[in-house]
Amino acid sequence: MTKIITAAITAIGGYVPEDRLTNFDFEKMVDTNDEWIRTRTGISERRILRGEGLGTSDMGIPAVLECIQKRGIDPTEIDCLICCTVTPDLVFPATANIITDKIGAINAFGFDLQAACSGFLYGVTTGASFIESGRYKKVVVVGADKMSAIVDYQDRATSIIFGDGAGAVLLEPNEEGYGVLDSILKSDGSGCQFLHMKAGGSRKPASIETVLAREHYAYQEGQAVFKFAVKGMADVSAELLERNNLTGDDIAWLVPHQANLRIIDATASRMGLPKEKVMINIQKYGNTTSGTIPLCLWEWENQLMKDDLLVLSAFGGGFTWGATLVKWGA
Ligand code: UT7
Repeated sequence: MTKIITAAITAIGGYVPEDRLTNFDFEKMVDTNDEWIRTRTGISERRILRGEGLGTSDMGIPAVLECIQKRGIDPTEIDCLICCTVTPDLVFPATANIITDKIGAINAFGFDLQAACSGFLYGVTTGASFIESGRYKKVVVVGADKMSAIVDYQDRATSIIFGDGAGAVLLEPNEEGYGVLDSILKSDGSGCQFLHMKAGGSRKPASIETVLAREHYAYQEGQAVFKFAVKGMADVSAELLERNNLTGDDIAWLVPHQANLRIIDATASRMGLPKEKVMINIQKYGNTTSGTIPLCLWEWENQLMKDDLLVLSAFGGGFTWGATLVKWGA
């Protein structure tokens, strides 16, 4: 009998820059205060990648290297590298190609995947399909964003939630039922109006006018996005449990996208999960977009036990959202 191949997560790496931007720093930049930010978002500080010429790949590379070094494999063994990001080093070529070149992954093909805050879930689901098909044996998925490059630090409602960081996982074939078991991914382009970047694309290329109008920053209507996010993330996570005949009791960890603590709380409560089963590091890193979920896995790795069931869940620009069920086997 042919055994079913699943994609197991066999190693995790992460990277956050040294520099911290605290709520108290924001108090000096815009009309805000630590108490407002903490109570409305759960965030106390974020990490910022500072330095001339540094981009998203400079965080993705150490995350990927840590990941493969932990597994004890050489970069030449990687078949494919998917870089999930909305802040690529360049519009083209793909940041995935910059990463594979710099780490010497000469046998890998790579591409960028842009699904905003759901990027990592889309990436893991895509990478898992490559493994499940039997065509590839080692797929790296890196979620990395330098949000400080596209945040308007004059916009107090949006700027306070974002930070920089990267996390990476290695996917490999497994025949014992470990790894990515199911995924529900959704998107709705009508949400574009609430969260987007106005200029810099082909519709409105960069010009002096677009720069002066501050149109190269992330534009967000926070309250509207919040409403969709609370419902979207909770609904899709509950749907994933239901279709796998699971309840909150069966789940060891919820690994939520870290955009706002209130969205995380709503999702956990909808799934019937107590706070102790929810990975939360938003207070330290804020919203690193594609980086949030792998950075949680990276930080909690030592607490994960074989056979633990994890639900990874996200909502973001696009709109995009989704939930992925993982059985831990590493
Ligand atoms: O990453 C995936 C996609 N993004 C999200 O999931 C983010 C979803 N949205 C949010 O997390 C929240 O909407 C924000 C944190 C962005 C904003 O919080 P909010 O509670 O929705 O605030 P608001 O924009 O509705 O503003 C409420 C009030 C306003 O004042 P008035 O009009 O009531 O007098 C704002 O001007 O709070 C004011 N305000 C602030 N006050 C102090 C907005 N930002 C700030 C601030 N400090 N930083």
